[in-house]
Amino acid sequence: MAKEQAIKKKTEKSSRQTLSAQLVLPEKTLELPIIVGTENEKAVDISKLRSETSYITLDNGFMNTGACRSAITYIDGEKGILRYRGIPIEQLAGNATFVEVAYLLIYGKLPNKDELALARKLLSRHAMIHEDMKRFFDGYPAAAHPMAILSSMICSLSSYYPETLDLSHPEDVNLTIIRLISKVRTIAAFSYKKSIGQPFVYQQDKLSYCANFLNMMFSIPTREYLIDQDVVDALNLLLILHADHEQNCSTSTVRLAGSSQANLYASISAGICALWGPLHGGANEAVIRMLQQISDEGGNCKKFVALAKDKQSKFRLMGFGHRVYKNYDPRAAVLKKSAKKILSKMGKNDPLLMLAQELEEIALKDSYFIEKKLYPNVDFYSGIIYRAIGIPSSMFTVMFALGRLPGWIAQWKEMVGDPDSKLGRPRQIYIGEKERPFVPLEKRR
Ligand code: ACO
Repeated sequence: MAKEQAIKKKTEKSSRQTLSAQLVLPEKTLELPIIVGTENEKAVDISKLRSETSYITLDNGFMNTGACRSAITYIDGEKGILRYRGIPIEQLAGNATFVEVAYLLIYGKLPNKDELALARKLLSRHAMIHEDMKRFFDGYPAAAHPMAILSSMICSLSSYYPETLDLSHPEDVNLTIIRLISKVRTIAAFSYKKSIGQPFVYQQDKLSYCANFLNMMFSIPTREYLIDQDVVDALNLLLILHADHEQNCSTSTVRLAGSSQANLYASISAGICALWGPLHGGANEAVIRMLQQISDEGGNCKKFVALAKDKQSKFRLMGFGHRVYKNYDPRAAVLKKSAKKILSKMGKNDPLLMLAQELEEIALKDSYFIEKKLYPNVDFYSGIIYRAIGIPSSMFTVMFALGRLPGWIAQWKEMVGDPDSKLGRPRQIYIGEKERPFVPLEKRR
């Protein structure tokens, strides 16, 4: 049986290797290999295109460009499928902790009991930041956006641990990974405490990753803070759902920065900056602003759906549409259910949840949204849960970064270990002036 399977695999492999495409150019015809992934995704390998023809491809926004082969996350945007290392997101969301999922993404397997215990111990041990770094917070204005603080402080970590930046020592790479996952939580919580003028709270070894974060965010020295397990579960769920999403804007940024051999802290910091934008991770904050605006203006969802369709207006329904999903984002489906459950468990009634549901219903029946296949994405319901657990909207994108960090690290680690990796450097079609002479200042008009 095993022999038969081996022969079948070999035959499949060789038939895949023979697949090719022909590119007919005015000057010559080129045979291009076709690469097939494990889920039968197909790509035309154009790596020899320029050297053999002097042509390049032009693909704004990389809509059709595969930048790497990756074994981490699989998405089928048409069917609404998302899997980390082969495991469906719905199964992970219901059964695993964020630390287990982080381990799965980074090391390719779910940790066993000993591996998980060790990971938890190390995450606790490395949670503190250097005391000098606490003074950084004093330098920021009170209204500083926490994403600005997070990105610069993550980059600054590299100056505290220069001895562990060498990629040739796997144990140093692992230590950097643990430091990042642990300290990002401390920096995020401290930036919140700074913004509201409360004292910083250190981690407690006895608490889990998510419980620790909540304690660092919400406890104060004068009163005991009771950690609600429902809130811990909600946070775990949110972080798991955000943990990776293959070659999105911020992940591609991490890979691109890392491809120059910039250190891991610097590469992650670049990813945090890319995540900040409202078309990417910043959309969760923008969704709440939009829902609030709709509510303030009388709750007329139809008016805003009409505005989103109006090409004269720049308004878009935030939390709607996705580059890859042309079906319901599976993360949004989990979050929609959870938002209702969590709010009712906590006895909270958020009018913005009702408004979000109404907006979704109207949009999904509208021919514009149907034709363009625009569905709610992960950001549409996440902010409502964050609000319910007391996280201010200015921190939403920071929460996204906390969740996405293991994915960024896994993708970076895969890239630096891939013998086919190269410095990321796209080309361009130049459309500027032809050569022209320099004009001295006195002769310029
Ligand atoms: N509201 C109204 N119209 C939209 C929306 C929207 N939210 N999203 C896309 N469209 C329209 C576009 O106007 C465009 O119309 P056209 O073909 O008539 O010009 C068409 O749908 C395709 O949109 P593009 O922007 O070309 O598609 P792209 O794949 O580049 O964009 C994006 C994806 C940026 C996410 C887009 O859907 C959007 O802006 N959504 C709102 C912001 C948002 O929620 N971002 C979070 C994404 S999830 C994440 O990053 C974690």
